[in-house]
Amino acid sequence: MFSNKQGFKIVKLGLCAIAVFVSAIAFAAAKDDISSRLSPVGDLCMAGDTCAAAPVVVASGPRSGEDIYGKSCIACHGSGAAGAPKLGDVAGWVPRIGQGIDTLYTHAIKGFNGMPAKGLCMDCSDDEIKVAVDYMVSKSQ
Ligand code: HEC
Repeated sequence: MFSNKQGFKIVKLGLCAIAVFVSAIAFAAAKDDISSRLSPVGDLCMAGDTCAAAPVVVASGPRSGEDIYGKSCIACHGSGAAGAPKLGDVAGWVPRIGQGIDTLYTHAIKGFNGMPAKGLCMDCSDDEIKVAVDYMVSKSQ
C-alpha cells in the first residue's frame, strides 16, 4: 500500500490532470463559440426570417424547361430553322414522340443530325435538357 505521502502525491496528480482536462474542454467550447460567431450567417434559414428572402437556393437550383427552351432551344425550335420541329407543331412532333421519351432525351443531350448536342446550351445539365424536352413535348401534342 501507499504511504500517506505517496497517496497525497497521486491525488495531487489526479487533480492536476482533471484541471488540464477541464480547461481543455473550456477552451474547445470557447473556440466553437468564437468560430460560430465568425461563420457566415444563414446556415439555418426559416420561412419568415429575413435570410429566407434571399434567393440563394432558388438561383442555384435547376432551371425550368420553359427557361431552357426560351434561352437555348427557341433559336431553332421557335422558327423551324434547319428543319427543327417547331414548338406546338403537333404533326411534326407525333413521329418523334413515337420514338419514346428516352430516345428524345438521348438525341437532345448527345445531338442528332442538325440537332446539336444539348441544343448548344453547354452550361445545361442533362436533367435540365430533359425538362426542356418535356416542356417542348408537352406543348406539341
Ligand atoms: C441549332 C439549332 C437547334 C437548337 C439550338 C436546338 N435544336 Fe433541337 N433540333 C434541331 C434540329 C434541326 C432537329 C431535327 C433533327 C432531325 O430530325 O434530323 C432537332 C430535333 C430535336 C428533338 C427531336 C429529336 C428526335 O429524335 O426526333 C428534340 C427532342 C430536340 N431537338 C430538343 C432540343 C432542345 C431541348 C433544345 C434546347 C436545349 C434544342 N433542341 C435546341 C435543331 C436545334
